[in-house]
Amino acid sequence: MDIERIRELIAQMTLEEKAGLCSGADFWHTKTVERLGIPPMLVSDGPHGLRKQAEEGDHLGIHDSIKAVCFPAGCALAASFDRELLRAVGEALGNECQAESVGVLLGPAINIKRSPLCGRNFEYYSEDPMLAGELASAFIKGVQSKNVGTSVKHYLANNQETRRMSVSVEADERTLREIYLAAFETPITAAKPWTVMCSYNKVNGEYVAESKKYLTDVLRGEWGYEGFVVSDWGAVNDRVRDLKAGLELEMPFSGGASDREIVDAVKNGTLDEAELDEAAARMLTIIYRFSGNRDASAVFDREADHVLAREAAAETSVLLKNEGILPLQAGQKVAFIGQYAAEPRYQGGGSSHINAYRITSAQDAAPAGVIHVRGFEDKEDTLDPALLREALKAAAAAEVAVVFAGLPDAWESEGFDRPHMRMPASQNELIMKIAEVQPNTVVVLHNGAPVEMPWLENVKGLLEVYLAGEAVGGATVDLLYGKANPSGRLPESFPKKLEDNPSYLNFPGEGDSVFYREGVFVGYRYYDKKKMEVLFPFGFGLSYTTFDYSNLRLSASHIKDTESLTVTVDVTNKGSVPGREVVQLYVADKESTVIRPAKELRGFEKVLLQPGETKTVCFRLNKRAFAYYNSEIGDWHVETGDFDIIIAKSAAELVLTGTVHVESTVRLPRLYTADSIFLDIKKDEKALALVKPLLDRSMFGGEARSETEASAITPEMLAAMLDYMPLRSLLSFGGATPDGLEQLLGQMNNP
Ligand code: BGC
Repeated sequence: MDIERIRELIAQMTLEEKAGLCSGADFWHTKTVERLGIPPMLVSDGPHGLRKQAEEGDHLGIHDSIKAVCFPAGCALAASFDRELLRAVGEALGNECQAESVGVLLGPAINIKRSPLCGRNFEYYSEDPMLAGELASAFIKGVQSKNVGTSVKHYLANNQETRRMSVSVEADERTLREIYLAAFETPITAAKPWTVMCSYNKVNGEYVAESKKYLTDVLRGEWGYEGFVVSDWGAVNDRVRDLKAGLELEMPFSGGASDREIVDAVKNGTLDEAELDEAAARMLTIIYRFSGNRDASAVFDREADHVLAREAAAETSVLLKNEGILPLQAGQKVAFIGQYAAEPRYQGGGSSHINAYRITSAQDAAPAGVIHVRGFEDKEDTLDPALLREALKAAAAAEVAVVFAGLPDAWESEGFDRPHMRMPASQNELIMKIAEVQPNTVVVLHNGAPVEMPWLENVKGLLEVYLAGEAVGGATVDLLYGKANPSGRLPESFPKKLEDNPSYLNFPGEGDSVFYREGVFVGYRYYDKKKMEVLFPFGFGLSYTTFDYSNLRLSASHIKDTESLTVTVDVTNKGSVPGREVVQLYVADKESTVIRPAKELRGFEKVLLQPGETKTVCFRLNKRAFAYYNSEIGDWHVETGDFDIIIAKSAAELVLTGTVHVESTVRLPRLYTADSIFLDIKKDEKALALVKPLLDRSMFGGEARSETEASAITPEMLAAMLDYMPLRSLLSFGGATPDGLEQLLGQMNNP
């Protein structure tokens, strides 16, 4: 329906009807206005499957929902580093929504993984905003290609579950822009989600739901957002204030109380009716976009989507260690050990919990002859001696033992954070003991976030499967036996221990405040800068083949910050099986006056290569690839200088480097004061020229210098001391009078 017709409709609506559109009718529907034929719209979680609740609704995954295909969770999808896969999963989900009359799928969830402990990390994508943003865009485009909306969430800075409804995130503007807002910026500008879900928490003391800055100025003003903003379920505190800030839809419902508040506010003049009309127009635009584009032929083909879920799981697992043990050979005597071989962990708890259609375990999919023993019960703290005995016997009798371990269901959920980064002690102990009797031990991990691995040195193989959805078992067996070649890469760093993580001292904060004191140094940005060893770096993942890189080419050696740079590199599959490589491009500012990460991910491409095949991978870098956020000018800024363009296999394995000189076209405004120091003045030729005569007259000038030659202070020492002196020292050390200094400042500020 076009906007003129929507405005005509709004003109016919009563105040009460317009206010009514701004909150839910029940847990999952918007309100209908029958007399005008305005249909209700159904929304459902999300993100990695359809949680459509038939009867009683809830937002914590308590009541049942329809049987639906559970795709790999966000942690795993992101590990694919594959835009095409995210798009395909999005398309399948969009089609499911059409078939089930769901107008908006409540996802993707893309909050930055600031700490490994966040309870919802399994739903989220990455510690890196570019990776999260690019993959989210592909997912959104996939869903929305089926004329179904998405709700990118939880905007903004909802990086922990502890006190999620009351905590205030205290972070500086640059950190928010470069890390936390950046994750949302690409999906919102490039993929145009129909809705954005506003988070529960506060940012710098103000609920995001009440923040005009984030909901209107940044979202609509800077990013051109045109959809509507929906509250997270129960995130509205002050309905009128939230509406004015830019929050159109309150969910779930308020029993009419909020609608009355809105009506009263219009009547008593505290809310302009035009603002309400605008909110209603945004709601109706989306409601009619869905109802006007229904696909009557859509069917929820659970079998077909299960097949896609299996393909996805094979692409999302990450091979972390392989000392000549994988792939397993047909006919080898193999023992599958562990509860998760029979009952895989494949999703997390809370609102994203899917009532899975069909779960396939590794045991179900294993080739004939593979032995399975239970090994452990994840609800028990200690190992059962009988299960242990059985497991050790099976391991010793086999040629290879594969232990299926990870985190129990109850440890990873929405609503609370993990207290530590360890796996259950019983599982660690089991792996150690198995490795003692069987040198050929492989571990398969089911978890939604990093864990410590005290047994890593003792095992020969490690496959990080994450929470890979209902078809995980078949995919895992394909990977173990080489029917599929692992191609996932870690979308987050795995620190050696929790204490190494940059947020450690400030997670989950004190009382209702959490200070993001690590600033932009999240994940690899921190480990890199500190040259700190991690268990596994960001971007890391092995393959059953090897890849060679050559021929790095940059389209120019000098560019202006208004121009773009094209980077190409050749990648060759040197092995004997087909494989997918993830080519990563990082940019490093070689010299900077601001404190910046050593390098930052600015491009990634996943390519499929047959044995011996070479492909050229191409990247295009624009100003943002070189820029940092300059809070003084409130904009992205590039400092003139050299930048390294690094092609890498992970944040820790750099393969080729080129250099480009980027020239800034923006002159930062400078305001000199009597407190400006000479070191800063020296960088500005014009200012220096103005200061020079006065400086020469001072005790730091020509005559004074020659005297120092005989003294203990060398001219170099004197120059170094001068660097940190403010202009006003010209008053104390000769060279200027108060009037002279004032005149000088006038000239310096208006050169
Ligand atoms: C979650 C959202 C979810 C909503 C509806 C909230 O508790 O934070 O992610 O979409 O409930 O279930």
